[in-house]
Amino acid sequence: MDGDVPERRFLEPFAGKAVSPPPVWLMRQAGRYLPEYRQVRSEAGSFLKLCYTPRLAVEVTLQPIRRFGFDAAILFSDILVVPDALGQAVRFEEGEGPRLDPIRTLAELDRLALSNTATKFSLVCETVERLRRELPRETALIGFCGAPWTVATYVAEGRGSPDQSAARQWAYRDPDGFQRLITLLTDASIEYLSGQVRAGADALQIFDSWAGSLADDQFERWVIAPTAKIVREVRTRHPGVPIIGFPRGSAALLDGYIDRTSVDGVSCDTSCPLGLMQETARKGRVVQGNLDPLLLAAGGEALDRRVDDIRSAMHGLPFIFNLGHGIVPHTPPENVARLVGRLRAIS
Ligand code: CP3
Repeated sequence: MDGDVPERRFLEPFAGKAVSPPPVWLMRQAGRYLPEYRQVRSEAGSFLKLCYTPRLAVEVTLQPIRRFGFDAAILFSDILVVPDALGQAVRFEEGEGPRLDPIRTLAELDRLALSNTATKFSLVCETVERLRRELPRETALIGFCGAPWTVATYVAEGRGSPDQSAARQWAYRDPDGFQRLITLLTDASIEYLSGQVRAGADALQIFDSWAGSLADDQFERWVIAPTAKIVREVRTRHPGVPIIGFPRGSAALLDGYIDRTSVDGVSCDTSCPLGLMQETARKGRVVQGNLDPLLLAAGGEALDRRVDDIRSAMHGLPFIFNLGHGIVPHTPPENVARLVGRLRAIS
């Protein structure tokens, strides 16, 4: 591993250094807004085939790096690779998002097993290995997983949902049973992330896209506790690898999340006030965020102004520029080039 290479600017905030201009990458920087992605995606046939074919997954990871020169690449995969590898087959239907056969009882949960994961996880790790060889030296490589809570919402619902009701109701009705699902996802995530670090990932991000749907006592049990366990275990095995949490929609609970999970950095969603991001960064945590993906899609001078505002608010602090959530498919690639150019222009 060569994680201590000084010229990887993305890693500097984690060493307590403010970098100007700030390092930048964007959630979902590989994807349908790029014509070259759509080309490879149709060659692959299915979305998961793309995730499990290292040659193609490497190619789509590199596409946004070639175009925009981001400071970090994020492994091309999906958070639903974990339940898929555990034995709950995931399908992606065109224009409709993910579909799984829902699991809501202990009998159904018994169909999943950690021992199923080896083959699929090793394909993803092969992608990481190849990427670390093929990426420019100065580009950091981010590995990731979904947080157990967010993945559990898809496991229980069988699809995306507006209110995550299947998982929330299971957790209320039968907390001990639901805990078994969370524990299984937590243990699988630890293996999955450790494998990515062994294969060459420089940093990790844990996506908790649905953290914001929980009451605070539930947040403690299903978001904080499992995330803390992942951080503790991965850090024991791989000291020094920065871990970023993304508890979307949870600005009001951010302090407790950071303190009790002990993540090295936190990704803030679009609704998180810049003032709170500044306060958090002043306490020495790396903050990432939080341009509205719809403003990136809209472009123009309003985009320039907000990029300038975020950059100047976070100047001198350990900060990484990102979106508040993933790039939307109708984003013109020129707007992404405009954002990166604006951010890097000397002001
Ligand atoms: O570039 C990157 O950020 C790396 C790859 C990545 C994808 N998904 C690729 C993808 C990452 C980090 C994810 C994370 C992910 N996946 C999350 C957490 C972040 C978030 O957006 O909240 C979630 C909840 C998922 C689950 C998921 N995957 C959904 C709900 C969907 C369907 C919605 C959609 O945009 O189509 C996906 C599919 C998906 N994952 C696509 C991509 C590029 C599009 C599928 C396609 O090309 O057909």
